[in-house]
Amino acid sequence: MRRIRVTVDGRAHEHEVEPRLLLIHYLREVLGIGGAHVGCDTSNCGACTVLMDGESVKSCTVLAVQADGHEITTVQGLAGDGGWHPVQKAFHEAHGLQCGYCTPGMIMAAVSLLRENPDPSEQEIREGLEGNLCRCTGYENIVKAVQQAAREMRGQAVAAS
Ligand code: FES
Ligand code: FES
Repeated sequence: MRRIRVTVDGRAHEHEVEPRLLLIHYLREVLGIGGAHVGCDTSNCGACTVLMDGESVKSCTVLAVQADGHEITTVQGLAGDGGWHPVQKAFHEAHGLQCGYCTPGMIMAAVSLLRENPDPSEQEIREGLEGNLCRCTGYENIVKAVQQAAREMRGQAVAAS
């Protein structure tokens, strides 16, 4: 067993874990945070995507011990005091939620994408989300949601400057 200290969605946690425990199972089964989903056993679907120190990672490919000392954000930690994160709001308004199973991973991948590229083209959005599989509608509403969020976040950035 190894002792780890991680901050998840702003809260500090300390646990003894098996070295082979995956981060997704630590989040879901040890911490009871169910926002990140398991959608495959091949590391392909991206439903388990979370942010580690702001970078998107597939939490089924990361060991809990590798998260030791790091900050993890799940979809459940995105909303702030002012309400939903702009990406959450845009997924709701642009009907990107659909069946919702891939949504937490999509949202986290989109947040990471927009951090790196605040003004992505449609092609760049599709490339940025290609590690996340959606089985519903060919990504149309998801891409629209990311475009809407990008516009809103750029507007906020301009307003704040
Ligand atoms: S559960 Fe499918 S990529 Fe992690
Ligand atoms: S919303 Fe259903 S799999 Fe993407």
